[in-house]
Amino acid sequence: MPEYELVLKNGTCVLPWGLSNTDVAVRDGRIAGLGSFDAARAEQVIDCTGLHVLPGLIDPHVHARDPGDPLVETLETATRGAVLGGLCSIFDMPNTAPPLLNVADLDAKRARLPAEAWCDIGFYVAAAQSNLGTLAELEKQSNVCAVKLFAGGAKGDLLVQDDASIEMALRNGVRRMCFHAEDEYRVQERRAQYSEGDPHRLHAEWRDVECALLGTRRIVALARKVGRPIHILHVSTAEELEFLAGCRDIATVELLVNHLTQTDEVYDRLGGYGVMNPPIRSQRHRDAAWAAVANGSVDVIGSDHAPHARAAKERPWPDTAAGLTGVQTMVPIMLDHVSAGRLSLSRLADLMSAGPARVYGVPTKGRLATGYDADFTIVDMSHRRRIENAWIAAPCGWTPFDGHDCTGWPRMTVVRGRCVMRDDEVLGTPSGRPVPFLGTGQVPKDQVGSGRS
Ligand code: DOR
Repeated sequence: MPEYELVLKNGTCVLPWGLSNTDVAVRDGRIAGLGSFDAARAEQVIDCTGLHVLPGLIDPHVHARDPGDPLVETLETATRGAVLGGLCSIFDMPNTAPPLLNVADLDAKRARLPAEAWCDIGFYVAAAQSNLGTLAELEKQSNVCAVKLFAGGAKGDLLVQDDASIEMALRNGVRRMCFHAEDEYRVQERRAQYSEGDPHRLHAEWRDVECALLGTRRIVALARKVGRPIHILHVSTAEELEFLAGCRDIATVELLVNHLTQTDEVYDRLGGYGVMNPPIRSQRHRDAAWAAVANGSVDVIGSDHAPHARAAKERPWPDTAAGLTGVQTMVPIMLDHVSAGRLSLSRLADLMSAGPARVYGVPTKGRLATGYDADFTIVDMSHRRRIENAWIAAPCGWTPFDGHDCTGWPRMTVVRGRCVMRDDEVLGTPSGRPVPFLGTGQVPKDQVGSGRS
């Protein structure tokens, strides 16, 4: 009988306390030990010579769009893209069609994972005008990563923009709550003024720094009043970053790959394929984002993967659909930033594994250490490759990074001990599971690793 189902040999492991050349042994889907496992009997041994082994990377901001339009994205294709891109878990946004607002829909979605998901998934539930009174119950449901409230950037039932309703949502529950914080009042007030000129460049002028800062300040003030921790999604301005560095008592911070990688020249190059909310902004804001990565005031990085059909991206502005694909390209782009010296692999693991686990409360993931889920993103930092539309698993079939050359590439994705992607090939059958979260009342022991022990 093999002692271990998997041993990773000869890799450079990115441990919480630094880089180490050590083997990793896996039993029952969990990390059984670090050290030398030369004599160990294992079902599978993977030679990781020349490769770095990172703790399983997590994208905490994915719009998998299911239910929705299968010609744009599905749970299966979003998670296929995730593992092809080196991600072991994703947290799925609730603005689906229909949106995720109740327990029955959450149960139905969760039940689909074993047959359809290639990686593990946590679920956001939306705070909507129609369900504000039920949020405390919803956030206790197993596998809910957070309640997400759109104070801006949404329409109809999903838009909750007035202070009284936001305060009511904040008073309904205790876990860290996530916000799209743009101030929709200001966004709508300014809309009519921005109809003439270069349509795509106008996007960032219309939804200006003040729209973002005003919204973030309002949400932080309400959270402080109520005493509830919050997470500000996709912070996009230098001004918000400066403000939020003084709000550690109540707020954590997400930055997006696009805001770290692109500037407003994207509108000339990509037109509608550069339009997202909050917008991609000038160099000054990108520099501030990197300064915040360097000084530690950012907690997590997300992709805000938001696929849309090409026809919707090509509609004349301001009706161009806002949102860019990104779940599959996130790790390659961030590895390229590592290669360019903008951050270390350790900081990357902090922002993309330990950070999401800490902010959302995942007791079983986020560290390459004994007892944790055997989730690994195995990368080759010398591998050069060009991102191309043809590689993208999302049925909508495009990426804003088409033609972007990367140095550093994910070579394997291991989820709870199962290698689900190796050299661009998705392996086996879907085996994704819902991610367990602290504060949801479930017993994490049952949901660590394969759950066999
Ligand atoms: O650009 C965006 N697209 N921002 C959001 O907040 C939502 C997203 C979407 O769902 O398309």
